[in-house]
Amino acid sequence: MPRDATSRERTSMGNANRLKIGLFGSNCSSGRAVTMVPERWSGGWQDNVRLARLADEAGIDFMLPVARWKGYGGDTDYQGATLETMTWATGLLANTKRMTVFGTVHAPLFHPLIAAKEFVTADHIGGGRFGLNVVCGWNEGEFDMFGATLRDHETRYDYAQEWLDAVKLAWTAQQEFNFEGQFIKLKNVRAWPKPVGGTRPLIMNAGASPTGQAFAIRNCDALFMSTRLASLETYAANVRRVEELAQREGRELGFYTVGVITCKATAKEAHDYYHHCIVEHADWNAVDSILAMKDITPRSHPAEFEKLRNEQANGMGGLPIVGDPDQVAHELAILSEAGMTGIGVSFVNYLEELPFFCDEVLPRLKRRGLRAP
Ligand SMILES: Cc1cc2nc3c(=O)[nH]c(=O)nc-3n(C[C@H](O)[C@H](O)[C@H](O)COP(=O)(O)O)c2cc1C
Repeated sequence: MPRDATSRERTSMGNANRLKIGLFGSNCSSGRAVTMVPERWSGGWQDNVRLARLADEAGIDFMLPVARWKGYGGDTDYQGATLETMTWATGLLANTKRMTVFGTVHAPLFHPLIAAKEFVTADHIGGGRFGLNVVCGWNEGEFDMFGATLRDHETRYDYAQEWLDAVKLAWTAQQEFNFEGQFIKLKNVRAWPKPVGGTRPLIMNAGASPTGQAFAIRNCDALFMSTRLASLETYAANVRRVEELAQREGRELGFYTVGVITCKATAKEAHDYYHHCIVEHADWNAVDSILAMKDITPRSHPAEFEKLRNEQANGMGGLPIVGDPDQVAHELAILSEAGMTGIGVSFVNYLEELPFFCDEVLPRLKRRGLRAP
């Protein structure tokens, strides 16, 4: 059944769950766990379809891909095989009934009109369930692959603003239009059909800088917040700070974060498995190469290098949530208390681990009033 696709339906992802739970990063080989264990995630299409159907049936709210074009090397060539996110999202929307599926799109690499048409096409295939995660890029090696130049940080967001303005205009304009920006010039544009229901897809952004967050406040429905390990107070303070900034602009945002779940029947089993995958069998060569791309080396960060290395192996910096179902449900509840609207989670092997999570953790969240009955 297509959703009504009203704006409210879209931001609530078509349900009354107070804490939205999604799967993050399954379009990439190894997902978000920088590990060498043989059961690490394939990232292949058939596994993604099986995962999406299972998740959709179990009531998972969304799937969010990582836009990654070039593997990180190491012993596993971490994230060396990635399914392009728009075609991935479109295929998954055709294979599911309820969940929101996002495309994660590099504004500078997709022509805005082709992008707008792809988003509308995905939205029609999903009956109003498509969501857009806009990214500006940060990795020069990836841009070199395209012969594209990574602009300086501020200009990246100036470009993204124009790009998104052009996309939104293509979604709404009822007549032929021209677009005359600093970077983008479009002539006599005709763009039909429009998104489902006369509204527009849910838009998200993961800016961490003041400029990135201001972009989210101006343009987006939701912000993906920093993934560093932080206390409840820090999360809550971050949410409050951005919320206040948004209120000053008369805007309202949802807040999402990223977690890496290791949930087993007992806490000991969970901690043992975490240690096995993420410490003993981490792909440390890949971890060091990822950190070096961000200019994080033992020389540049002598005091925190080991800590940053461990966080990176865990899931590219996602919040580690390790424990039995009670503990995992408790930690998710804490995030909700801190003001989070939702969380994108990953597992070492999504398909093998998701059923236990859904059977054991979702009912506990229901009992706490965080998931709809
Ligand atoms: C949860 C999350 C997901 C992200 N996903 C991607 C991605 O898929 N591709 C990408 O190039 N950048 C991704 N980023 C990077 C952000 O788009 C952004 O560049 C980064 O958070 C730095 O923020 P800034 O641009 O405001 O400096 C992600 C960041 C976060 C926190």
